[in-house]
Amino acid sequence: MTYADLAARALQDPEGFWAEAAKGIDWIHPFDQVLDRTRTPAARWFVGGKLNTCANALDRHVEAGFGDQLALVHDSAMTNTVTRYTYAELTDAVARCAGALANLGVQKGDRVVIYLPMIPEAAIAMLACARLGAVHSVVFGGFASAQLAARIDDAQPTLVITASCGLEPKRVVPYKPLLDEALRIASHIVPRCLVVQRPQLSADLAPGRDQDWATLMAEAKPHPPVPVEATDPLYILYTSGTTGQPKGVVRDNGGHAVALHWSMANLYGTQPGDVYWAASDVGWVVGHSYIVYAPLLQRCTTVMYEGKPVGTPDPGAFWRVVADHQVNVLFTAPTAFRAIKGQDPTGQYLKSYDRSSLRTLFLAGERCDPPTLRWAEEHLGVPVIDHWWQTETGWPIVTNPRGIEPLPVKPGSASVPVPGWDLQVLDDGGEPVARGDIGNLVVKLPLPPGALPTLWGADERFIQAYLSRFPGFYTTADAGYIDEDGYVFVMARTDDVINVAGHRLSTGALEEVVASHADVAECAVIGVTDGTKGQLPWGLIVVNQGCTTPHEQVISDTVAAVRSTIGPVAAFKHAIVVPRLPKTRSGKILRGTLRQIADGQTWSMPATIEDPDVMHEVARLIEGLR
Ligand code: COA
Ligand code: AMP
Repeated sequence: MTYADLAARALQDPEGFWAEAAKGIDWIHPFDQVLDRTRTPAARWFVGGKLNTCANALDRHVEAGFGDQLALVHDSAMTNTVTRYTYAELTDAVARCAGALANLGVQKGDRVVIYLPMIPEAAIAMLACARLGAVHSVVFGGFASAQLAARIDDAQPTLVITASCGLEPKRVVPYKPLLDEALRIASHIVPRCLVVQRPQLSADLAPGRDQDWATLMAEAKPHPPVPVEATDPLYILYTSGTTGQPKGVVRDNGGHAVALHWSMANLYGTQPGDVYWAASDVGWVVGHSYIVYAPLLQRCTTVMYEGKPVGTPDPGAFWRVVADHQVNVLFTAPTAFRAIKGQDPTGQYLKSYDRSSLRTLFLAGERCDPPTLRWAEEHLGVPVIDHWWQTETGWPIVTNPRGIEPLPVKPGSASVPVPGWDLQVLDDGGEPVARGDIGNLVVKLPLPPGALPTLWGADERFIQAYLSRFPGFYTTADAGYIDEDGYVFVMARTDDVINVAGHRLSTGALEEVVASHADVAECAVIGVTDGTKGQLPWGLIVVNQGCTTPHEQVISDTVAAVRSTIGPVAAFKHAIVVPRLPKTRSGKILRGTLRQIADGQTWSMPATIEDPDVMHEVARLIEGLR
């Protein structure tokens, strides 16, 4: 069937289409209804069905005779070690981990926060939660204690799993003290913590509360998979919104398993037995979907990499991993390629490795700029596929569906809507725009399986954030256009979210931290274009009248505060003190113009400006920072 036929079928008969796809999953009890459109706040998939996601990812492959096939290859460029798990070994480790969690009192429906670096225990812990029907919430290691505390307070976990440390190129990051500080700040009392002790640094364990991973794993008995409803939550993943309060994206079990399993063959063109490497982090949605769940659901070998694209030890790191593990499909963020290209512009490192196993490169997380796309195509000699999705959607909205029908690549476009996603472009009044015109990218409801059914404990916020702006549609908060051939071009966010090295950050959250400094009267944080990281946050600070603290001090204080409150991943290093913030007559900060100035683009004075002199003065100061 062609892409066009399949896409049409999925929209005309979603129930029939997804019931067919659901045959790729083993159900303990079949679903009574494919799609219940009456549910609030959103329609629900596979109602009445019972399954276990972990059993679908692991046990069924062992039972089918594939126990000796490699399931997980962990490659650490930080410790120069490789650890391999067959499906039988991974099933055993996950079952014993589930037993250990159950011994600690974790039950179906309980939340477990996982704050771990890129070590096999992260995937094992996630799958063990899925096995028990417990809801995991992974927090990215680059977030600071306050961020971890906010997520602990929202998810109210019975257990937090952490490690003694993470390994960054120039430093060992002690995770346990970060967790201890988060537990001190949080209002919710976490009764138990489980700690993976790494040889590079040992963590102190609080008697009575903290347990040692290795000891508990050695004592634990394997726990069988617990049946859960298709609509029960599998995980919560917090992501940045426009305010400092992160949004807890909920993923269910049934829709997620069906959509992810279907996506592997149809979108990524993989078959069971292929080697799939998503060079991301388990703290992000890419890591959840394409390091852990999707490759295992399809019985691929998944590669988990602890390291960077450059500096660990050189820009050949990715090609070494591809060659060593015979990777067939690689998925990463354009920022990683910009970093590699910056250090290896002529592709010398590429030539030292056998990359013949590699069939396709997928890029996502931010728009892929055409020069990066061309460089990757030219040097790798394989199709380079930009594809667009979000934490909320869980899997791609727009891609070049390699397993259905490989379509020509158009640089700058993520290609075409995935079957099941009714993507439309609306103007601010909610009317469809003409082909080629830019507007709000929205998805007509119901969303396909795998997309978020709500935010954790916050149905009303879910409706407000995603469903109320354009009734009957999910708003992606991205702007873009669809061309005459149906190709989608995603151009920019329509809210205050910025994208720093493929990491999604809220300027509102950064502003809250900067504004909390005693000498700061008000501030604005804007995302400024950066050659490697895509965007970097820059702060514009207005100090209180009569402030006697030197401006340099205020700036270094706020930079330090963002690092310790949000985390190093925010990469907030640039700020200036300005006399006033340029605003409209109704008091709105003119962020768009400030961004144009900071990006070195030509700009014009907005008609709505309150005081043009302020804009000229701020422009002069920003140009000094560039
Ligand atoms: N734990 C603790 N600290 C972390 C961390 C973690 N898991 N991940 C990143 N950090 C720290 C880094 O050490 C760095 O700290 P520094 O300011 O002391 O140098 C800071 O956070 C920024 O990290 P990062 O964004 O990784 O930047 P970098 O300069 O170290 O590397 C790239 C730049 C482009 C190589 C890197 O960002 C990259 O590989 N990005 C890929 C993004 C990605 O996978 N996105 C997921 C969506 S697909
Ligand atoms: P996250 O939820 O962290 O995955 O970030 C999702 C956001 O990243 C999207 O809403 C887009 O703004 C941006 N994004 C992700 N992939 C792409 C892409 N291929 N092209 C353009 N923007 C992208």
